[in-house]
Amino acid sequence: MQVIKKVSEMNQIASQCKAAGKKIGFVPTMGYLHQGHTTLIDRARQEADIVITSIFVNPLQFGPNEDFERYPRDEVRDQELAKQHQVDYLFMPTVEEMYPTDPNISLHVEKRTDALCGKSRPGHFDGVVTVLTKLFHITCADVTYFGLKDAQQVAVVHALITDFNFPTEIIAVPTVREADGLAKSSRNVYLNEQERKEAKYIYQALQTARQLIVDDQKNPDMIVENVKRDIEQQIHGGRVDYVELLSYPYLTPVSSIEGNVIIAVAVQFSKARLIDNIIIDEHGQTPEGIY
Ligand code: PAJ
Repeated sequence: MQVIKKVSEMNQIASQCKAAGKKIGFVPTMGYLHQGHTTLIDRARQEADIVITSIFVNPLQFGPNEDFERYPRDEVRDQELAKQHQVDYLFMPTVEEMYPTDPNISLHVEKRTDALCGKSRPGHFDGVVTVLTKLFHITCADVTYFGLKDAQQVAVVHALITDFNFPTEIIAVPTVREADGLAKSSRNVYLNEQERKEAKYIYQALQTARQLIVDDQKNPDMIVENVKRDIEQQIHGGRVDYVELLSYPYLTPVSSIEGNVIIAVAVQFSKARLIDNIIIDEHGQTPEGIY
């Protein structure tokens, strides 16, 4: 595995791989790698000839009061994990390398962002699409792998790729969970012992919502109220930021459960804001291949 810090070097290598007819699989991350990330890398390893992973904590996607400065970082461990999972090129640029000047042009996401994290984190997805536009160009990605834990991100990136004709295919990978159902996240390290115990109830509440839909409950408000109540009853160390039920991938309100919907939750704990979701069809089943 080669660690690359320079944009020009990464782009040169990727261009050469592409010219040699290799299929480039790309996994963008912000590091502090865990099994959620390595599952994406393993999938890329299976499907592509060359695997590029990026580790870049992108300041543009953090709000002024968010955790950019204290986002967990561990370069040594990340390099070890990336190597174990047979990454070919680990791209780790500095902020100055990625953003050497103030922007001349900024990107703004128009749709799919007025709900969920887009609503509570204004500007977040503008930062995400900006960095991904750069990374797609730098890495010449043929296929890019994203986790459905961040389902709104998947929906927004899909719109980016479609609107701007990026020659990149997007693969959405199911959420990887701890044994008790908690979605793996770099931010889980911020939970104290009691919060960690309670955090499993987020996924349990989502499973109850799924069961309501299996049992033919069609009323979205009723399902949302149920999830909120379940979480509030079980989790005392955290505050519900949102529970929403929307169409997927359009992320628009629905008046009845028809087609694919997402039920998404964000809970603010003392030092970590955790998100989770399930995407299901009107029968409560997981849809085959979202993209
Ligand atoms: P990061 O939070 O590091 O996540 C990188 C990728 O790993 C994302 O596609 C995310 O959905 C996926 N991922 C994280 N936890 C997961 C889990 N438990 N199961 C499955 N996949 C999981 O998302 C970002 O970074 C950034 O916004 C980025 C796309 C890199 C742009 O800066």
